[in-house]
Amino acid sequence: MAVAQRVEHQMTDKGYVPVYTTRIVEQPWDEYSATDHDVWGQLFRRQREILPHRACTEFLTAQDAMGMSDEQIPRFDELNTHLARKTGWQLIGVEGLLPELDFFDHLANRRFPVTWWIRKPEQLDYISEPDLFHDLFGHVPLLMNPVFADYMQAYGAGGVKAHGIGPEALVNLTRLYWYTVEFGLIRQKDGLRIYGAGIMSSKGESIHCLESPAPNRIGFDLKRIMRTRYRIDSFQKTYFVIDDFEQLFDATRPDFSPIYRELAERPAIPAGNVLADDRVIQAGTGEGWPEDGDV
Ligand code: PHE
Ligand code: FE
Repeated sequence: MAVAQRVEHQMTDKGYVPVYTTRIVEQPWDEYSATDHDVWGQLFRRQREILPHRACTEFLTAQDAMGMSDEQIPRFDELNTHLARKTGWQLIGVEGLLPELDFFDHLANRRFPVTWWIRKPEQLDYISEPDLFHDLFGHVPLLMNPVFADYMQAYGAGGVKAHGIGPEALVNLTRLYWYTVEFGLIRQKDGLRIYGAGIMSSKGESIHCLESPAPNRIGFDLKRIMRTRYRIDSFQKTYFVIDDFEQLFDATRPDFSPIYRELAERPAIPAGNVLADDRVIQAGTGEGWPEDGDV
């Protein structure tokens, strides 16, 4: 397998410093073992058993349309044919998490980085870093949706911009990604549904986010989300609900620069808090919540 970490030396005012970049890799499809395909198959079947009536219809339809199934790990190039036709997005294989700016730049150019390797059989329920199952199963189907596809590209461009503004702006923007792309809920005709990839790739959270009385479910509000801390080691304490993807895209269309300046003056909100002017869909009981540890 190709080595993904590449060290380059860049001349700065401190002399040459090493810069680590993550190389783009061809998906080593022929090198996946029977176990790798089996892990994919097990996870795929398990999620597809519980996601009908929980995942938004766009997700399920797109996943079928692009030919993902439990039979084998999908080939990036086959998925790319479908994406090219629908929205012009393209998957690129990567070893793992990218430096922030690289990640934003890929999104801004409609390239979605996908981790090429898949978790081990003993990690079916939980893995702390994104793997192929999370990236492909969770994120890729909605890239077939034209509005969501545009949102992701705009997010990337916004990320490049925020990176130039500073770390506080990036914190605000990362919260938006977390509460939409990773853990977003959407209101559909017959009730709340999942669209966030972090939920889609987790059996426990797919059920918890819709059925548990513990978490808050609150109507989407851009600035509110950008001030809200989140959980990385437990289910979310709060989920934000959009009415449709147009709402998400329209709300994020304005220039964020003045918003970043405004939010810099305001305190962050703990992950589980409900505010007086929230559009509360359901206030959580908070049962089983860990005391703190919001990031
Ligand atoms: N409009 C945002 C900005 O000016 C960019 C953006 C779009 C950010 C969509 C997130 C999502 O920074
Ligand atoms: Fe993700």
